[in-house]
Amino acid sequence: MNFNDTEIVASIMKNSGWELVQSPEEATAVLLNTCSVRENAESRVIRRLKQYNNKFKKLNKRYIIGIIGCMAERFNEHLVELDNAVNVVIGPDEYRRMPQLLDQALNGYKAVAVELSTIETYDDIVPLRTEGISAWLSIMRGCNNFCSYCVVPYTRGRERSRPMKSLMEEARSLFEKGFREITLLGQNVNSYKDEETNATFDILISRIAEINPLLRVRFTTSHPRDMSDKLIDAIATYSNICKHIHLPVQSGSDRILKEMNRRYTVEHYLKIIDKIKSKISNVALTTDIIAGFPTETEDDHLQTIELLEKVRFAGAFMFKYSPREGTLAYNFPDDVPEQVKIRRLNEIIDLQNKISRQLNQGEKGKTHEVLVESPSKKNPADWMGRTSTNKVVIFPNNEQKYKPGDYITVLIKKSTSATLFGEVI
Ligand code: 5AD
Ligand code: SF4
Repeated sequence: MNFNDTEIVASIMKNSGWELVQSPEEATAVLLNTCSVRENAESRVIRRLKQYNNKFKKLNKRYIIGIIGCMAERFNEHLVELDNAVNVVIGPDEYRRMPQLLDQALNGYKAVAVELSTIETYDDIVPLRTEGISAWLSIMRGCNNFCSYCVVPYTRGRERSRPMKSLMEEARSLFEKGFREITLLGQNVNSYKDEETNATFDILISRIAEINPLLRVRFTTSHPRDMSDKLIDAIATYSNICKHIHLPVQSGSDRILKEMNRRYTVEHYLKIIDKIKSKISNVALTTDIIAGFPTETEDDHLQTIELLEKVRFAGAFMFKYSPREGTLAYNFPDDVPEQVKIRRLNEIIDLQNKISRQLNQGEKGKTHEVLVESPSKKNPADWMGRTSTNKVVIFPNNEQKYKPGDYITVLIKKSTSATLFGEVI
């Protein structure tokens, strides 16, 4: 979501005469788009801030440093107090005012804008996308779920959907410009609703898939409580809706899920997984897990391990619980000792890596339709692309016969836990 927000900010700035440059050395202003979801994301920003201050600001007093995004929202004017280097602080719903606020900063004043909106979706702003074949498309902003550990409802405000009409226009124009993959974004895409037509997410994704069979459509993220049968049917029906569902479960213990205010049980989650697996053949499932939530016992942890073994996710984002001020869970005792949190997280990571490796080994000898993306990082004679199930596939392309945006069929020859390797057939 932040990648897409950055493209929106770049577009707003460009329209008022600013230019993007390749490095902070050449810049008049540097804006850091930030995430507040865990403490280490914020510590990284603080470190970067110090770096920019020492490297640029101390040499040039007029150099502007801005913090935008969730950290701006969370720290508000305290960021200016916290670090004298900061000139502008702009929250996620205030980007339209960015040129004005930067002018203010150029004139030597600190500028802070962190009002949240109930309607802002940047509907009329075409993000300044870098070239490529994959585009992000935010279909909704904000979140009303208030999971007890999560800062997002406070930093991004209430849920609101972008009108379907303009989303369709933008999706069509992306395809015409050569994009071959669109990822529909939202904190909870399943609660998308078009005000004008009452269309829900399954309708929106189906209409976008119908633009052209050569356009792949992905989406993230879904909340298990709102995963509808209609959406599962749409994914099964359209071959170009990718067969990958990211469905964060967070924990395998009902007691912890309740404390997290997730409002589903493990049984409910497993039922959805069964439904998905039975309706969509060869679907890949991924998830998010938090280890060491307040009051988590060894037994709760083992239930998470058990769930991972049962579902066998293709992959997972796994985190150590990080208390976030202002959230409900911040008031709970953070009573799982650090060493225990780390040990549990490592056990989860080890198990998940083993499962990912095993699942990828099972891909050997299978063929996949792969959308060609770019040369691989390690060896430019090898290229990378992705399967519909979102697996990265490396294949030889010495003579550059295959171009970004081509669809090819690849026979998988070997694999690691993260990558498949194959030959084009
Ligand atoms: N601590 C650890 N992980 C968190 N997440 C959200 N808030 C926290 C937190 N306070 C994780 C959840 C979510 C993902 C985006 O980040 O797993 O699904
Ligand atoms: Fe945070 Fe829960 Fe909303 Fe996801 S659904 S953004 S975890 S509050």
